[in-house]
Amino acid sequence: MASDPRAVAAAGPAVNTSGERPTIRIESAVKSFDGRVVVDVDELTLGKHPIEGLIGPNGAGKTTLLRMIMHSIKLDRGKVTLVEPGADGGKILSNLHPHAIAGLGVVKTNQVIQDFDNLTIWDSLLLSVAEASDERSYQIYREGGLLEEHQEDTRWYLDHFGFDDPTGFAKSAGEKKLLDIIRCLLLRPKVLLLDEPAAGLPDDVRDGVMELVREKATTENVSVVIVEHDLDVIWTMCDYVHFMAEGSVILRGAPEWIREHETVVEKYLGSGHVGG
Ligand SMILES: Nc1ncnc2c1ncn2[C@@H]1O[C@H](COP(=O)(O)OP(=O)(O)OP(=O)(O)O)[C@@H](O)[C@H]1O
Ligand SMILES: [Mg+2]
Repeated sequence: MASDPRAVAAAGPAVNTSGERPTIRIESAVKSFDGRVVVDVDELTLGKHPIEGLIGPNGAGKTTLLRMIMHSIKLDRGKVTLVEPGADGGKILSNLHPHAIAGLGVVKTNQVIQDFDNLTIWDSLLLSVAEASDERSYQIYREGGLLEEHQEDTRWYLDHFGFDDPTGFAKSAGEKKLLDIIRCLLLRPKVLLLDEPAAGLPDDVRDGVMELVREKATTENVSVVIVEHDLDVIWTMCDYVHFMAEGSVILRGAPEWIREHETVVEKYLGSGHVGG
């Protein structure tokens, strides 16, 4: 157990933050399942740096925390706020429907992919984008403008990743994973939460995804948070890393500081915990 799970995470030396970015502020956020607290985060801001990592052993609560941000699960208590540069105050996400949260530009890929089985690649992408723009998602087929706007982007991503038949169905787990990432990029996110984006992707595809993610973060000011057990991705991609264990973020700092920290080595890196 972390010595004091409600304590603010110990921080390493400061890391340059390269200007104002959209951030997610999490305050006193608690979630339990069956009476067991699995997330208890007192104070955490994600997104001050272009690409941040959120790492920790299996069961640490990383996916649950991302789901709390998206409000796809209800918080027992606490508050999650989207704070955008130049905007007064922030938008409280923990009162909103997940679709509305995606509509505000906060989107998340899924660790376990469930969609894409019953729809063609093309339809599933268009529909998921429409769902975020308008809850009456069938409208996308009626409103030419919406369809056209997303078609061009959709085509670009499918070409870029070599999907030559979008009228077919996704075949492998890796293809579904990639489509889920494309779905999120199509939503033109301000904050992009990636839950194990590398799992199941061939190395070259993974590298292509990461290159695109880096570009979004640097040229479009998207704040990216990556949850990953593939630590090469974390150490090479991230400007800053949060370390989570037993429901709390207990350390935060530069990747090289986190990587060598004795708590991280003891709880995660050094004892065979790494792996999805
Ligand atoms: N819907 C649920 N019902 C009951 N328990 C759950 C549920 N979702 C998560 N848990 C439990 O909450 C804890 C945290 O799970 P979570 O999936 O957030 O961990 P994680 O850090 O994402 O782990 P991994 O690295 O293996 O993906 C685990 O003990 C898990 O079993
Ligand atoms: Mg997880």
